Amino acid sequence: MEQTLLQIAYLVASIFFILSLKGLSSQETARQGNLYGIFGMGVAIVATLFNSHVTQYDTLFITIAVGSLVGYILAKRVEMTAMPELVALLHSFVGAAAVLVGFASDASMGHEGGHAASALYASEVGVDVFIGALTFTGSVAAFAKLKAKFNFFGKTYWVPSKPLLLKERHKLNAGMLAASIILVIMYANGASGEAGSGSLVLMSLLTIIAGVLGAHLVLAIGGADMPVVVSMLNSYSGWTASAAGFMLNNDLLIITGALVGSSGAILSYIMCKSMNRSILSVIFGGFGAENDAPAKELTEEEKAELAARTVNETDAETLSDKLLSSKSVVIVPGYGLAQARAQHSVYQLVKILKAKGVNVRFAIHPVAGRLPGHMNILLAEAAVPYDIVLELEEINDDFPETDVVLVIGANDIVNPLAQEDPTCSIGGMEVLEVWKSKLTVVFKRSRNVGYAGIDNPLFYKDNTQMLFGDAGKTVDELVAQVSAK
Ligand code: TAP
Repeated sequence: MEQTLLQIAYLVASIFFILSLKGLSSQETARQGNLYGIFGMGVAIVATLFNSHVTQYDTLFITIAVGSLVGYILAKRVEMTAMPELVALLHSFVGAAAVLVGFASDASMGHEGGHAASALYASEVGVDVFIGALTFTGSVAAFAKLKAKFNFFGKTYWVPSKPLLLKERHKLNAGMLAASIILVIMYANGASGEAGSGSLVLMSLLTIIAGVLGAHLVLAIGGADMPVVVSMLNSYSGWTASAAGFMLNNDLLIITGALVGSSGAILSYIMCKSMNRSILSVIFGGFGAENDAPAKELTEEEKAELAARTVNETDAETLSDKLLSSKSVVIVPGYGLAQARAQHSVYQLVKILKAKGVNVRFAIHPVAGRLPGHMNILLAEAAVPYDIVLELEEINDDFPETDVVLVIGANDIVNPLAQEDPTCSIGGMEVLEVWKSKLTVVFKRSRNVGYAGIDNPLFYKDNTQMLFGDAGKTVDELVAQVSAK
């Protein structure tokens, strides 16, 4: 009876997780999706509490309280731009938990009240430890690369975002994978003999090798691919949970893990497609990363030529006239908009222009900002209606008919080099073709490069103007000008 109730509760939780994912697939329903997810998780926790196998309530409540407190503080304190780091760190917890559960299962094998030490069960333990260790170190490496700067005892340490490309790295990876498979087989064979013979040595070796493999895979990936890596690790953490579910004979973990695993894999695929990366090169770390070097070194001549290149500058007053005489305006938000926290002012500008009869829309690049959906979150925060927020493929053909494009704090996502120079670090990435519009105005503080570290020929085009300054300030000035006219 208890088992039936538990299974029903797990099924209900799984249904809510599926509804949650469906809700999260569109902005209008994302909030609802989150609520479904919270409810599903609530059902899962309560059901687990009533499981008769759960006896140590004091330990359970203490760990839940500590975990919730840490989670709450982290979520409250994290800057939106640091979300990928936090997500990477959270994935590492899933990996670490899986390894610990694997070791605990190994310890209980063959003991009284423990699991039967069948070869099948032992191989589940082995696979779980392998994926868990790989996810743990991979996530820690991703966290370190994303955070880049660490302060310890008054000293600053930097983690380079450049890929670590060891000469024989693919052979090394293949060797570590083969060694891990052999260890899992040896472990499973050992377990089918004497009860409790699951060897701690084999498990420890497996953990170390999988751990090195996970870190090495991620370290070989270049800075521009990091968003995909985080989403890939999300997928790995799902498969880890699923493997743990098989080991613990827990259907909910299997289903939830598979949901997270497959949705993470699909998101990685979509991101790879929009950045024109091969998903295999991301999974196997550093395939083709030789081409990933952020642009070739400029010669002295090229540097001098670049410095001598002039840009057209504009100011808020001139731009306000131009905007008010336009029929169609498109706003391209980027990372700098988030940095400047200018989303509310930008929406104010949109409202004024719309009231004066200008058609204003937003163009969202899939990897604008620093995390998937970053710009959508920002605009939703400012209550921008969803119907004027368009995806790259919905709006890219409209630029030739657009009077003014306002590029606010964006750089790489509007860089024509992506189409012109396949060897540059963003070569082949889909970009918003803003230069095809009648006038593009770029809001940024300087001529500095963006995340990919390469110059942007857009700035020097005849139909481009620069509005230099912090986007928070320049947009406010523009709002003042437009509303006064
Ligand atoms: P970026 O190419 O990084 O450019 C942002 C620009 O904003 C910078 O050039 C900077 O120029 C400007 N800026 C910064 N603070 C500003 C401020 N307060 N006011 C005005 N301008 C400011 O950003 P993007 O165009 O959004 O492209 C995103 C990049 O990040 C892509 O290369 C993408 O691959 C990568 N990435 C994306 C993700 C995801 S999933 N979205 C995750 C990690 C990395 P100044 O310094 O001159 O002001």
